[in-house]
Amino acid sequence: MRLLIATTNPDKLREIRHLLAHVPVDLVSLRDLPPFPEPEETGTTFQENARLKALYYNARTRADPPRGPRGSSAVGCEIGPFDYTVAEDSGLVVDALDGEPGVHSARFLRADASYPERFAEIYRRLAERPGRPRTARFVCALAVARDGRVAYETTGVIEGEIAAAPRGTAGFGYDPIFFYPPYGSTLAEVTEDAKLRVAHRGEAFRKLASWLKEGM
Ligand code: IMP
Repeated sequence: MRLLIATTNPDKLREIRHLLAHVPVDLVSLRDLPPFPEPEETGTTFQENARLKALYYNARTRADPPRGPRGSSAVGCEIGPFDYTVAEDSGLVVDALDGEPGVHSARFLRADASYPERFAEIYRRLAERPGRPRTARFVCALAVARDGRVAYETTGVIEGEIAAAPRGTAGFGYDPIFFYPPYGSTLAEVTEDAKLRVAHRGEAFRKLASWLKEGM
């Protein structure tokens, strides 16, 4: 079974390979395909964006690609088709910031901002809201497309708090500011194994693994 994992993010990909390692599937990512335009992530929810990406990349890698309005074609035919196209959209939701950065997590502040700059901005905004809870969560929405329709979707969530200050060097993205109370540490202070046991992407891709195995 061949799966297209519709991401170019090397950190997500490493986690996803880890999570699907025990499922007998051939994983191909967008990094293995010739570059082609990314869809605009116009959804207002993680789920909408996951669906939009799964359907877009599925259409672009079908054996019988639908033609665009100007006859634009797919690129994946020589590498595809795939049994399933799997896309995920994820991010950090901070309650005191009314859900920000949320679906804008990857581009928060500026598309090219560094994570330390983003952390500083989050702490600056939190300081303007003293007394508000520091609760936050990571959300991962996952969608699987096949033959132009969504065949499966699910989500994973991890509840935590914004740490008093960034800590740790493991993980990626916002992990250094995400404090997970049961571990007494941020997600950047634990091994990848420990992170994935409890984190959003771990939950979502474990559900996907069960669904794939049921169909085998
Ligand atoms: P997406 O590619 O639009 O789904 O962007 C997801 C963004 O959310 C990433 O670029 C990170 O900034 C953030 N994010 C998602 N998952 C994690 C995680 O597990 N740890 C830290 N940051 C994450």
